Amino acid sequence: MKVLVTGGLGFIGSHTVVELQNEGYEVVIIDNCSNSSEEVLDGITKITGKTPIFEKIDLRDKPKVIDFFERHQDVKGVIHFAASKAVGESVQIPLTYYENNIGTLVYLLQELQKKDDASFIFSSSCTVYGQADELPITESAPVKPAESPYGNTKQIGEEIIRDTCKVVPQLKAIALRYFNPIGAHESTEIGELPLGVPQNLVPFITQTAIGLREQLSVFGADYPTQDGTCVRDYIHVVDLAKAHVIALGRLMENKNKENYEVFNIGTGTGSSVLEVINSFEKVSGEKLNYKMAERREGDVTAAYADTNLANNELGWKATSSLDKAMSTAWKWEKKVRS
Ligand code: UD1
Repeated sequence: MKVLVTGGLGFIGSHTVVELQNEGYEVVIIDNCSNSSEEVLDGITKITGKTPIFEKIDLRDKPKVIDFFERHQDVKGVIHFAASKAVGESVQIPLTYYENNIGTLVYLLQELQKKDDASFIFSSSCTVYGQADELPITESAPVKPAESPYGNTKQIGEEIIRDTCKVVPQLKAIALRYFNPIGAHESTEIGELPLGVPQNLVPFITQTAIGLREQLSVFGADYPTQDGTCVRDYIHVVDLAKAHVIALGRLMENKNKENYEVFNIGTGTGSSVLEVINSFEKVSGEKLNYKMAERREGDVTAAYADTNLANNELGWKATSSLDKAMSTAWKWEKKVRS
């Protein structure tokens, strides 16, 4: 079974390629390497013993996308990661975000709707819920107005897929709304490689501990939470990767109830920023240099998943603890900088 993974050299994409190959899928990766490198292929090969097919294509190049699907007619499933994901940057260059995240999605769906049978998995985000009124967050919680063009591309992306599935019955799709993916593969052959100064908490922690950054700023200590810092649902990237393989299998085996479905992918447990720091210090034995700082604009107070639908309907459950995820993130950071 041949599967296309767009953005397959990226953080979540590469871990998903590993899990797909472990399950016997033949994987073709499309990536433009704008935020990744071809060396990731070596890591995937070391872990799985197999090298996926790789085509360096920019999905904004519509003729190349059409040509790809003509050459790979046996691709029946697509997992679509390729997208830009920096919230702050999206505010500065919104049209680039709409072109990268929306234009490319349309081109892919235009090719998939030509097929007799196609399965599509979309990377969505818990950002679509904004600050939810109730916690934990279920899939039926209302989608709130997006805080950024990036968040908006996830909302619009979901709507585009839903509208397309309504009129293309042979197209089956699942949007996975990820909570906060962290960690790295246990082998330390693949992991997260943020360009420049990391915007996300865990790479900032590990880069501070290794000496690349001087100090972590904890954004806000006056939130109405257990210790005043924001609460998130941190999920190990390997657990998240496995959710994609299960979701794809559900569609390919026609086990889906609707031809467009949405699942939250999180652990169900909320952790505060200070709890994440404590976990890091415990598993690494390092003391982290951090200070309390102002709130970051656009941050919500608390977000964690109700995982009942994913557990019971999708048949997937996160298995890794926060400590485990933090220890793999630290092992990876040490390896990359050694
Ligand atoms: C962020 C994005 C979200 C996106 C996700 C992708 C924002 C507002 N949200 O989620 O849309 O889908 O990344 O991974 O950017 N923190 C610090 N100090 C830091 C960095 C982070 O205290 O230097 C705190 C934040 O305030 C937050 C928590 O750590 O409470 C997690 O932050 P982050 O990793 O950026 O994830 P989100 O903001 O949840």
